[in-house]
Amino acid sequence: MLPDSFIQELIAKNDIESVVSSYVSLKRRGRNLVGLCPFHGEKTPSFNLYPETASFYCFGCGAGGDVITFIKRIENLSYIDAVKFLADRVGMTMPEHTFDDGAAKQRVRILEANREAARLYHKCLYSETGKTALDYYHRRGYTDATIRHFGLGYAPDSFWFLRDELRKKGFHDEELRAAWLCGRSQKGSIYDLFRNRVMIPIIDVRGNVIAFGGRVLDDSKPKYLNSGETPVFKKTNNLFALNFAKQSGQKQLILCEGYMDVIALHQAGFTNAVAALGTSFTADHARLMARYTDEAILIFDADAAGQKGAQRAIGLLRDTGINIRLVSIPDGKDPDEFIKNNGPERFKLLLERSANDVEYRLIEVGKRHLLTTSDGKVNYLKDATALLAELHNPLEREVYATRLATELGVSKENVLLQINNQIKRRRKQQQERQMSQIVRRAETMQGKANPEAAKAVRGASAEEALLGILLLNPEFLATIEKELQPEQMITAFNRRLYETLLSRHHEAKFIELSYLAEEYEAEEMAYISKMVKDSRERVSSLTLDQARRYVQVIQHEHELRGLQNPEDLTPEQIQEKLKTMKQMKQ
Ligand code: GTP
Ligand code: MN
Repeated sequence: MLPDSFIQELIAKNDIESVVSSYVSLKRRGRNLVGLCPFHGEKTPSFNLYPETASFYCFGCGAGGDVITFIKRIENLSYIDAVKFLADRVGMTMPEHTFDDGAAKQRVRILEANREAARLYHKCLYSETGKTALDYYHRRGYTDATIRHFGLGYAPDSFWFLRDELRKKGFHDEELRAAWLCGRSQKGSIYDLFRNRVMIPIIDVRGNVIAFGGRVLDDSKPKYLNSGETPVFKKTNNLFALNFAKQSGQKQLILCEGYMDVIALHQAGFTNAVAALGTSFTADHARLMARYTDEAILIFDADAAGQKGAQRAIGLLRDTGINIRLVSIPDGKDPDEFIKNNGPERFKLLLERSANDVEYRLIEVGKRHLLTTSDGKVNYLKDATALLAELHNPLEREVYATRLATELGVSKENVLLQINNQIKRRRKQQQERQMSQIVRRAETMQGKANPEAAKAVRGASAEEALLGILLLNPEFLATIEKELQPEQMITAFNRRLYETLLSRHHEAKFIELSYLAEEYEAEEMAYISKMVKDSRERVSSLTLDQARRYVQVIQHEHELRGLQNPEDLTPEQIQEKLKTMKQMKQ
């Protein structure tokens, strides 16, 4: 462990404002600074920096912490490496015993073993043993320059090649196993996991060899063997060739399915191509891409698995807010084969003509229906309008509605009407889902900020929903204030928040999350911003009427709770409460 005094000095010397502003463009707002969050895609700033507490917090995605956490996340580093990064930045030397730390030491050893392994596999490729493998690469059209650039290699058909070579270099069996290079048999002997495969080293953005992908040279199975997760490798945190792609100088990233596609694309000059690593595309991958680019070009196989993968990736990338374009390659080829057969110029044309995801999905929907029959047309219109209902931008909806109307020979008004009906239906479904989510979440999430909430689920949910609306529409406070007393709030935390809002309202102060951060702790801010986020998602319920309905629920719960301690009440009070409750029910 690092001594506290060292960490304190490190944090003091690495002024958070200057560290963060080299990644995020910040604007001053009151005592704090705001900017666009680097950890999720957004168009309006919800990333807040608090110089006074040397911390940051994003209301959009919940990321938060100190300067070390910031570097850890933005540079994708371990804690110890983030500390080292910041120490280097201000010229501090790391304390001597830092690398006695077992885990950090093991990571270093694994990276060294991987680097050695990559070297050995590469050397093997150019030896007598590697002749068939080298032929394989050449037959696929990869040049020696490409092979060198990617550090490609060959794992010979032996159980002990790598084990013996790495043992000679002083690596322990445990290290080889931890690196996912070797396994241990039931009898206890150590053997190579990659055998008779062409080897593709996976290199992270800092140039470390973190894992391998190995492909068979023929049609045997499994086609690919990829390293499992190790202390230095998490599949969803990395994209193949991102180390090169981030230096490509291109404003887009091309996402394809396989290593071989990426290699072929780079060789053909498309050095901004990346791929997920032997796993399906995840939200982490999407966020990682969004950190390096504003636009992703998706290239997926035309087969069913490829289509499914594309749909999945589109959804995840859309959530980050970056633009998406899609390329489907004619004749169901993958980019590797396409370039081999047609050359880079033709591929460049495909990229330039690539449709955005809406067009692509419309085409896919179109393929599912027989447009020569009237039934087919009706169903096509139904599916297509459902798709267009997902678009947030009315202008965009209008453009596609016009196109669809022309295509089907119906009026544009008709198409827009159908889209609007679909939007209404979606909103209603969404609202219902979110209501039930609120109740569920109340039981699990707010534990820390508002411990009482779990004991008063219905009341606390209504409070949260109400406060969420008020935070987004502070002008409602004037009305709500007359109908709901702070004392009627069931949970103490929500009462405090309501009081804060009322007093800021009276003092005509701004009511906005970043100003509340002066009074509330990070965990409390997380809870509050979740209320706002939930409210914002329940678009159609952001009315004063809806707020009043929540007030009624709160009052009702308040009455009920009064009744739970009847000994505290006089008989007249009980009568009175029963009466108001009856009125509420009507
Ligand atoms: P080539 O056949 O060599 O051109 O490879 P490809 O990249 O075209 O392969 P394919 O389209 O079949 O697969 C795309 C990606 O899915 C690969 O790059 C791998 O990451 C992954 N993949 C394919 N087959 C396997 C497998 O058997 N095991 C694992 N773990 N991943 C695989
Ligand atoms: Mn292929």
